[in-house]
Amino acid sequence: MLHTVITFVCFLLYAVNAIPTTTTTSTTTDADVHINHTSFSQTTTYPLPNLGNVAAHDPNIVEYDGYFYLFKGGVHIPIHKARTLDGPWEQIGTVLEESSVITKQNRSRPWAPTTVEWNKRFYCLYAISESGSRNSAIGVASADSPDAGNWTDHGALVNTGDGDLADIHPYTISNAIDASFITDQKTGEPHLLFGSYWHGIFSVPLANDLLSVKTPKQPNATNLAYVPKEKVKPIEGSFMAYNAPYYYLWFAHGKCCHFDLEDFPPMGDEYSIRVGRSKDVTGPFVDKDGKDLLEGGGTVVYGSNHGVVYAPGGIGILTGSDNDADVLYFHYLNTTIGFAQDDAQLGWNYLHYVNGWPVAIEGRTSLNATSESSGRSTRPNFTLNSLALLFIGSFLWLCS
Ligand SMILES: *[C@@H]1O[C@H](CO)[C@@H](O)[C@H](O)[C@H]1NC(C)=O
Ligand SMILES: *[C@@H]1O[C@H](CO)[C@@H](O)[C@H](O)[C@H]1NC(C)=O
Ligand SMILES: *[C@@H]1O[C@H](CO)[C@@H](O)[C@H](O)[C@H]1NC(C)=O
Ligand SMILES: *[C@@H]1O[C@H](CO)[C@@H](O)[C@H](O)[C@H]1NC(C)=O
Ligand SMILES: *[C@@H]1O[C@H](CO)[C@@H](O)[C@H](O)[C@H]1NC(C)=O
Ligand SMILES: *[C@@H]1O[C@H](CO)[C@@H](O)[C@H](O)[C@H]1NC(C)=O
Ligand SMILES: *[C@@H]1O[C@H](CO)[C@@H](O)[C@H](O)[C@H]1NC(C)=O
Repeated sequence: MLHTVITFVCFLLYAVNAIPTTTTTSTTTDADVHINHTSFSQTTTYPLPNLGNVAAHDPNIVEYDGYFYLFKGGVHIPIHKARTLDGPWEQIGTVLEESSVITKQNRSRPWAPTTVEWNKRFYCLYAISESGSRNSAIGVASADSPDAGNWTDHGALVNTGDGDLADIHPYTISNAIDASFITDQKTGEPHLLFGSYWHGIFSVPLANDLLSVKTPKQPNATNLAYVPKEKVKPIEGSFMAYNAPYYYLWFAHGKCCHFDLEDFPPMGDEYSIRVGRSKDVTGPFVDKDGKDLLEGGGTVVYGSNHGVVYAPGGIGILTGSDNDADVLYFHYLNTTIGFAQDDAQLGWNYLHYVNGWPVAIEGRTSLNATSESSGRSTRPNFTLNSLALLFIGSFLWLCS
């Protein structure tokens, strides 16, 4: 009980998560307030990102029919579309036409969508919640294409706080935000991932139509990542991707947002992008040092760098092919632009795998490319089709 209370208090203090708060774009700089730049890591260990040229908190990207589709939190879940990851991004509409059918706050402004292609339909998993509250839900909307205008809102998959089945494990100890998705390569079973602070990241098998948990009253959930020993348990925004023979569990660790410009957290306490891997979709996931993600493990793949990139998180992976490296995309704050939620920028880097551990690569050259391109363009259709076959429709991402 004491533990629960402490966790709750810590949550109130820190769980600000993936929250698109206001629509006002702040451009707070040194001119407005004295910013102590010694709080920003100057490291060159991580490469600068390629610029997505769009503001996006918790971006989620899907490739379809020669385009990239960008989903992000915001009023009714905005959809943007571009030919390359560099943009130009055009907003083509929203996923929902009105507030979510889930009757919780803030249903007009879902957070952190993750859209997935599954059996030739698209499913947008979104979160309804409000700042500092665990009264949350993961909802789902579906459509026959990722374009705007034909999405159906199906409501809640899981609830925490209030709502249907919120009183059963693991919903009693988790926060139903930051959805992501993975297909079990062995069984073809779809899995939902979610969680933020509290008891960390969980996965539950979904029904084959992705419109409910497979066994709702006994969800057979698996805890995948948790920080047991610290009072503050700042992990969230999970994304799972498969790169044979491993599943990679990506997540963000640290303080995401709502930074006090006169008092930044100690360097390293802000968001960073971390990973663990497992040969089994339900784990155990371990980091490069062999530490279990349930024991607070997680290898930092990308953190603040060059005094410019700050608090990267909101991760997703675009799965590549033999001739095209995986892409890690994320949001970050540019210390010369501003620190408000709506200042978060889309960035991306190719990934190389060194001994099976991902490393973010500088520049725009994919694995075997011989010349620099002007931003990655979408792969030809045949690649998408063969990938779809290979991975049984496990085309995925997050945006939390
Ligand atoms: C800036 O922050 C560093 C480390 O947090 C601190 O040592 C230093 O005194 C600060 N400088 C100012 C001018 O506040
Ligand atoms: C919910 O989001 C809408 C749209 O951004 C905003 O106008 C409203 O104030 C929000 N409500 C709460 C309770 O945060
Ligand atoms: C909208 O989706 C329905 C099925 O959900 C489909 O039958 C219909 O053709 C779609 N309409 C358009 C304009 O894409
Ligand atoms: C529950 O999940 C585990 C993996 O975590 C799996 O081995 C087991 O078969 C599942 N049980 C049921 C009843 O589906
Ligand atoms: C790159 O080229 C090598 C040699 O031609 C090939 O074996 C490999 O599959 C290609 N793709 C990647 C991702 O390395
Ligand atoms: C940061 O913003 C400045 C403009 O203020 C821009 O010149 C620079 O390219 C940006 N860098 C990144 C990594 O976003
Ligand atoms: C992919 O297929 C669609 C039709 O399904 C076509 O309109 C589009 O041009 C194709 N894209 C590429 C890159 O071949």
